[in-house]
Amino acid sequence: IWEVDKSVDNLPTFPQIMEAARWLQKNEVVAFPTETVYGLGANAKSDEAVTKIFEAKGRPSDNPLIIHISDQREVEQYVEEIPEVATKLMHSFWPGPLTIILRKKEGILSDRATAGLSTVAMRMPDHPIALALIRASGLPLAAPSANISGKPSPTKFQHVLNDMNGKIAGIIDGGNTGVGVESTVIDCTGSTPMILRPGGITKEEIEKVIGTVSTDPALHSKDERPKSPGMKYTHYAPKAPVILVDGSISFMQQMIDRYHSEGKKVGVLTTEEHSDLFHADVLITCGKRTDLSTVANHLYESLRAFDDTEVDIILSETFPTRGIGEAIMNRLKKSAGYHILKESQAD
Ligand code: TXA
Ligand code: MG
Repeated sequence: IWEVDKSVDNLPTFPQIMEAARWLQKNEVVAFPTETVYGLGANAKSDEAVTKIFEAKGRPSDNPLIIHISDQREVEQYVEEIPEVATKLMHSFWPGPLTIILRKKEGILSDRATAGLSTVAMRMPDHPIALALIRASGLPLAAPSANISGKPSPTKFQHVLNDMNGKIAGIIDGGNTGVGVESTVIDCTGSTPMILRPGGITKEEIEKVIGTVSTDPALHSKDERPKSPGMKYTHYAPKAPVILVDGSISFMQQMIDRYHSEGKKVGVLTTEEHSDLFHADVLITCGKRTDLSTVANHLYESLRAFDDTEVDIILSETFPTRGIGEAIMNRLKKSAGYHILKESQAD
């Protein structure tokens, strides 16, 4: 464990960062904070190093990793071409929570990192420790979220320690991450850019820069096959099953009472505005409805917090799918396996 204060000067030469970087150069795995969630990094040029990431996470090998770089100019080493829209996106949003899919240049990055695809996901994170680590290692870092596959992504050092202790070379403890949900993934290899995963940069923000973009139809229906391999797996799931409750305050209370009468201990994922209104066994507040960035920020830690309780079922509020709400609802639907109770007109 390397504790690093992200505000110190000259981070790439900081002893802890240099030590972590040396492990990366030896093809070992190091967890580090980014502005979204903690990542599990390894040398993206090495099959051996990348294989260790898949093993530590228990991740299916057909799910490609994002390649993290510290300078926009590095992209051309790894991709065949950089379309104009991609250049605009990089200028506007890098460093930041936007991952851009481009056509991969063969023979440079590990094929295991890209799961054998002809495309590659590139991202420049907006976090001083992540950037310093990439610079100090002198390597492109393949890095998925630093959770065990299927669990909510880690937004705190303690989450990473819980999931990865003993499985990797080390963890850089840089405190809590910022955004709280992962980067937006946008595919720029087709004629119209397509959002494959909503995340830290909203569709509205992207469209201001490059005009209309499409969204993978699979994001709105569990029956479509997603274009991003990672989007097809169960995800973000606490131990107890999650059900989304879409309706009024009284409808939520009815659902709580219904599961309660079945003898279940009921947990509710709620918000500051509503937390006093429900009677349930466990209430966890994830943020303010009037500022959804606070909900994004606390979402995964709230889902994980239910694992420390004895609840049998988790009922969650739903959110409007505007702005960051789209990423929040995407993650919540996945954590619930698309199980949604909707209040009907008749109720
Ligand atoms: O914010 C983030 O993006 C975090 C931090 C650590 O950077 N990383 C992250 O990585 O969320 P991961 O592996 O948990 O999610 C990567 C997503 C997966 O859904 C994967 O399938 C998709 O990106 N992806 C990666 N390469 C792809 C490609 N070539 N084509 C389509 N989707 C790709
Ligand atoms: Mg992940």
